[in-house]
Amino acid sequence: MPRRPRVLSGAQPTADSYHLGNYFGAFKQWVALQDEFEAFYFIPDLHAITVEYEPAQLRERTYIAAAQLLAAGVDPERSALFVQSHVPEHAQLAWVLGGVTGFGEAGRMTQFKDKTAKSGRDAASVGLFTYPVLMAADILVYQADKVPVGEDQRQHIELTRNLAQRFNHRFGETFTVPEPYIVKATAKVYDLQDPTAKMSGSATSHSGVVNLTDEPKAAAKKIRSAVTDSGSDVRFDPATKPGISNLLSIYSALTERPITDIETEFEGQQYGHFKVALADLVADFVDSFGSRTRELLDDKGELDRVLAAGAATAREVAATTLATVYDRSGFVPAAHP
Ligand code: TYM
Repeated sequence: MPRRPRVLSGAQPTADSYHLGNYFGAFKQWVALQDEFEAFYFIPDLHAITVEYEPAQLRERTYIAAAQLLAAGVDPERSALFVQSHVPEHAQLAWVLGGVTGFGEAGRMTQFKDKTAKSGRDAASVGLFTYPVLMAADILVYQADKVPVGEDQRQHIELTRNLAQRFNHRFGETFTVPEPYIVKATAKVYDLQDPTAKMSGSATSHSGVVNLTDEPKAAAKKIRSAVTDSGSDVRFDPATKPGISNLLSIYSALTERPITDIETEFEGQQYGHFKVALADLVADFVDSFGSRTRELLDDKGELDRVLAAGAATAREVAATTLATVYDRSGFVPAAHP
């Protein structure tokens, strides 16, 4: 029987909460794809250690990440939800792929350039440099067909495709070449204070970032204080009205209504009215999201159980791919004593 196509994605546990950009750019799609695809969703803790971090904080953030992904609607009955470090095949495959990745090719990754822009390359870890190779391994070890992500990950998936094709060409057909799955309307949610920059957990100021477990009042305030232009009509025009367009995209994603519909509803009204309406919606959203997350976090034993079951499912698939890769690579099989 032909297998269902596979979908895979991950989101780093590098903040105390995921934010609206992660939710609309990625998680909403993860949840929607669970029926049609065999789904693998994971928390990339190995990626998280490529920048400075605190071990105790990473452990706590990994649990928060798991709780939030469940709260977002990842269903462990239908998807394998797991922690990257529980499946050692990711790191093992990354090493092999490192052998077919060009130094220059890795050096062209814009995320690496962005992350090292301030302190310089010499201050960065080798892990941060080879980060995209591990990401390629994450995807290829499951023979994933589709990878739902935001726009900022497109280049990494392009690299993954190149590595898969190169390996297949040199060593024989081994990997499925994956496709990015990027939903245009929410591919890039922008910072509320700087609507030309993406909303990011590592932003210097948090006033432009709505976290999924913000206090409802705080989240509402962030929306009401969002930077907008000096005009007054609520109209989608990212080139001249980036702030209001970003808010319209968020409104549309939250309500699942087309943007034109929302423009019509607020025709002739000031920005203030529109912002208050959106602030209320966002407050309700984080309110219920926060309480679901807290409930799940209260039972770490149950989270451990879900993650262990996810890792067991994932390992079966990952081990099969890795065995083929080792064989194609010319490694002598380990004899059983
Ligand atoms: P990360 O952890 O930065 O983000 C998780 C997901 O959220 C999306 N995203 C956004 N989408 C729209 N607007 C935004 N402002 C926004 N900010 C973040 C990201 O595109 C991503 O889909 N390298 C990955 C994690 C990763 C991964 C993987 C993803 C590791 N291995 C394998 C897919 C497949 C990252 O740093 O995403």
